[in-house]
Amino acid sequence: MKGIILAGGRGTRLYPSTLGVSKQMLPVYDKPMIYYPLSVLMLAGIREIQIISSPTDLENFRRLLGDGGELGLTLTYAEQAEPRGLAEAFLISADHIGDDRVALILGDNIFHGSGFAPLLQRHAQSVDGCVLFGYPVPDPERYGVGEVDEHGNLVSLEEKPERPRSNLAITGLYFYENDVIDIAKNLRPSRRGELEITDVNRIYLNRGKARLVSLGRGFVWLDAGTHDALNEASQYVQILEHRQGVRIACIEEIALRMGFIDRDACRRLGGRMAKSPYGQYVLEVAASG
Ligand code: G1P
Repeated sequence: MKGIILAGGRGTRLYPSTLGVSKQMLPVYDKPMIYYPLSVLMLAGIREIQIISSPTDLENFRRLLGDGGELGLTLTYAEQAEPRGLAEAFLISADHIGDDRVALILGDNIFHGSGFAPLLQRHAQSVDGCVLFGYPVPDPERYGVGEVDEHGNLVSLEEKPERPRSNLAITGLYFYENDVIDIAKNLRPSRRGELEITDVNRIYLNRGKARLVSLGRGFVWLDAGTHDALNEASQYVQILEHRQGVRIACIEEIALRMGFIDRDACRRLGGRMAKSPYGQYVLEVAASG
């Protein structure tokens, strides 16, 4: 399965913080925001990942993450000239996807919970149509919203409805079969002029091929799109890391644990950042295996 991180948009709700830098470059406590979605794809076992962003921001992502070789990944970069919707990602990344399946994750979505890696791997291996991840929220009108029947099967999907039929937000992580490219090619822009991911998902739903995985209690999903959300996400990560002594979304640690790199490579990566607590943690991970 191939991966895509969509790190586009202008981040207007975070102005002036995002006037000079992409939203997905802002720190969420101790690391850039994009580390969080990158770590999700890595935990799913995905190693070939394309990062999509605006032409001006792409260079910064390249400087941050390079070709991914040091993490045992293959990272490539592609431009989205204008924010024309999430589903445009499948057109931009059609060559990258090739004839494989694909996971799309939004660059500002943060997921955390125990047992997430096996859950991701299980669903990544068994995609039949699309796999969506739902999460109950108090403000569903801000998101794509899913409605389920008494058996937990998805029955409707709506994008930012004024009157949501449920409190189940569809999070910014999606798994698809290869036919998503054809579906995206035939989409029409919505009223706000964008190729909507919810329209893609509704096509799978109508075909009876949309699986919903509910991420319930005990799981955390955050989007970091506003100043408050960003600050809350940082605080969540800080509290958890201080209390448990482990770091969330440490891509070097994940690369080591997933077997993408060996201990020597991990030590080299940590050594470069040894003056920061994050770098020291990477060194400790390399030493302890
Ligand atoms: C997008 C999707 C929406 C989804 C959300 C998750 O919204 O359109 O369906 O629930 O991401 O973060 P946006 O963040 O572009 O407003």
